[in-house]
Amino acid sequence: MAGSEVNFKNLRSFQRTMAKKVTVIGAAGGVGSNAVLEIARNNACTVVALDIPEAADFLKGRMLDLSHALAVMNSESRIIPTTNYEEMKNSDVVVITAGFPRKPGMTREELIGVNAKIISDVSEKIKQFCPNAIVIVITNPLDTMAYVVLKKTGFKQNRVIGMAGELDSARFRYLLSQKLNAKIGHIEATVLGSHGQEMVAVPESTTLNKKPVPDIMSEEDLDECITKTVGAGAEITKLMGRSAVVAPGFAVAKMVSAILNDTREEFCVSAYINNDGFYEGVEDLFIGVPAVLGKNGIERILQVDWEDATKEKFSKAAKSLATMRDALKL
Ligand code: NAD
Ligand code: LAC
Repeated sequence: MAGSEVNFKNLRSFQRTMAKKVTVIGAAGGVGSNAVLEIARNNACTVVALDIPEAADFLKGRMLDLSHALAVMNSESRIIPTTNYEEMKNSDVVVITAGFPRKPGMTREELIGVNAKIISDVSEKIKQFCPNAIVIVITNPLDTMAYVVLKKTGFKQNRVIGMAGELDSARFRYLLSQKLNAKIGHIEATVLGSHGQEMVAVPESTTLNKKPVPDIMSEEDLDECITKTVGAGAEITKLMGRSAVVAPGFAVAKMVSAILNDTREEFCVSAYINNDGFYEGVEDLFIGVPAVLGKNGIERILQVDWEDATKEKFSKAAKSLATMRDALKL
């Protein structure tokens, strides 16, 4: 029959790419479903879309819709909707978006109680079924939930990563591009510290065409962009009545691609720091820092070219995160 010969070379390469397996836990949700689509769209891989039994029908329907979207784009990736944790077995990367989002007027920190329990349960299952996976946490309060995952899985610190800085720095870049009427691709931004009120935009490491932005814009305009970056999540939640879902999904998908393809790109991530030389004084904590991502997860933590004022804000963020961590009583 015409076309029946199997091209083993292509088959092997197809099987190799399809061997890459990513699980998104909380996939029926806003962030999770955007992450599933963007991960599947950007990598020929299998995406296990996992959620709770109560969400089973909605999950199945939404994942059918996403699979049809992949067909529109001629993507070979496969999406497997499931409520059975065994299906995530041996995933290369696990993304966690399971948990409650904040409502208008709430802080991310107020989610600690309800989400810590969910993340703790999910972590036990990841430890059981994906002992070698790299885990990217999204659930809020982000830095504290990443700490729960590290402690409950017992994974090495390079394999547990929090996604927030990629979103926050994208928001900062967007605001600067609007204010400076500049191409967003020409702006590099650094946002560290916590994914909360103590978020630290680092102007001295934020550039337009490699020029530090403090040298090319007024202090007033820069401060406005920083203030709006910190408040961007709350602004969207106030306007929509629910929190942002697309940009967070795209941000984590970008990190997953860097890991699957071992690109060694630099990201702002929430990483485990324990008196690591440059960040001395930051002990036993997840906090936003610049890092290189690759096949091993966090390949290395980078140092920041920062001024005293930024260092002070970073230390303040670390103190707040330590208080949140201690509230967990892990
Ligand atoms: P959502 O309510 O739309 O989705 C959450 C999903 O998690 C739901 O489908 C729910 O069924 C599922 N879920 C709940 N408990 C579960 C469990 N035990 N196991 C598996 N799945 C479970 O919420 P969302 O808008 O997608 O946000 C998800 C989380 O991500 C929230 O905590 C939110 O605050 C956080 N968030 C973080 C960032 C960031 O930058 N880190 C950005 C946006 C949202
Ligand atoms: C945000 C919240 C939900 O930044 O973390 O959109």
